[in-house]
Amino acid sequence: MPRSKIAGIGMYVPKNVVTNQDLTQYMDTNDEWIQERTGIKERHYAHRTEETTTTMAVEAAKIAIERAGTTAQDIDFIVFATLSPDYYFPGCGVLLQRALKMKEIGALDVRNQCSGFLYALSVADQFIKTGMYKNILVVGSEKHSFGLDLTTRGRNISVIFGDGSGAVVLQPTEEDDRGILSTHLHSDGGSAEILAMYNPGTHANHWGTQDYADFDDAPIANMFMSHAMIDHAQNFPYMDGQLVFKKAIIKFPEVIMEALQANGYQASDIKMLIPHQANLRISQFVQHTLKLSDNQVYNNIQQYGNTTAASVPIALCEAWEKGMIKNGDLVCLAAFGSGFTWASALIKW
Ligand code: UT7
Repeated sequence: MPRSKIAGIGMYVPKNVVTNQDLTQYMDTNDEWIQERTGIKERHYAHRTEETTTTMAVEAAKIAIERAGTTAQDIDFIVFATLSPDYYFPGCGVLLQRALKMKEIGALDVRNQCSGFLYALSVADQFIKTGMYKNILVVGSEKHSFGLDLTTRGRNISVIFGDGSGAVVLQPTEEDDRGILSTHLHSDGGSAEILAMYNPGTHANHWGTQDYADFDDAPIANMFMSHAMIDHAQNFPYMDGQLVFKKAIIKFPEVIMEALQANGYQASDIKMLIPHQANLRISQFVQHTLKLSDNQVYNNIQQYGNTTAASVPIALCEAWEKGMIKNGDLVCLAAFGSGFTWASALIKW
């Protein structure tokens, strides 16, 4: 059975850089708090009207496709991960298919937030291994800036997130000991409401996430998004950061070790760990737990913030562009986030 290899990789971040100091115009925060708690110095925000989650993905995808030595016409499947789609439906996959003038190929959208890219990669990997497809475009892209509560009320979340996009092209390889060795996917819905955006949605307070009456008098057709939801900021993401942090520092090392053990490796064998860029402190905890050196772990949250589904491919692309990942290197990708979902992939580059 062939393995899949990352044949091409690309990334795109918008031009507009927003520093911690810039955010103080909108909310009561400061550079010291943000850097101390998260490591973030700045992030990029998309142009309000000229850039979308899909248009950023187009830029990243073009680079990945060219580097894979192929063309958009040769791509035979798309897997697109995002939590900030252009439309509630249809998903971004079809918009990317249209924008790149691709053939009438399948386009699958993945909704797994921070681990979305790894879930997408895992799905694509299975299609390559079975021989079903030969050139799969896998994308993680986010335009968070359009959906954040940029007031003091939302400061614990809004300062963390940034916009950007990363893409890879997966192709089969018959080379021994090269390519994606394994992927590992997990979830625990017991904490679904800990990091979530409750509305728009169909839950009608079934899970008790609203502490205000909204449904009793509402006409049946008008419960998906209401004025009260907006008044109560339920159109913005909610996060209990401390709980997420505590779980993340357990699950990251666990899922990384799972990938290593499945392939007979140990932590010291990792050439480059690319963790989802959630918080520099989380990555440092993971590094410490696994006894990894500074040059075994790639961090770029300082410049981009947390770009959710885009963070792993952006970090992987940067590390590769800087020459920090070479053929034959053992590369581990890992992510944890909303759901909770978490995942890893071990790759012989
Ligand atoms: O990728 C998705 C997965 N997400 C994560 O992995 C995030 C994990 N969690 C975290 O990274 C951290 O919990 C945060 C960085 C989000 C927050 O750090 P924290 O140390 O947990 O802070 P906190 O929420 O407990 O807030 C501490 C204090 C509070 O003030 P009081 O009540 O102690 O007076 C907050 O109101 O800091 C205040 N605060 C802020 N102050 C200035 C919260 N946000 C801000 C802010 N600027 N932006």
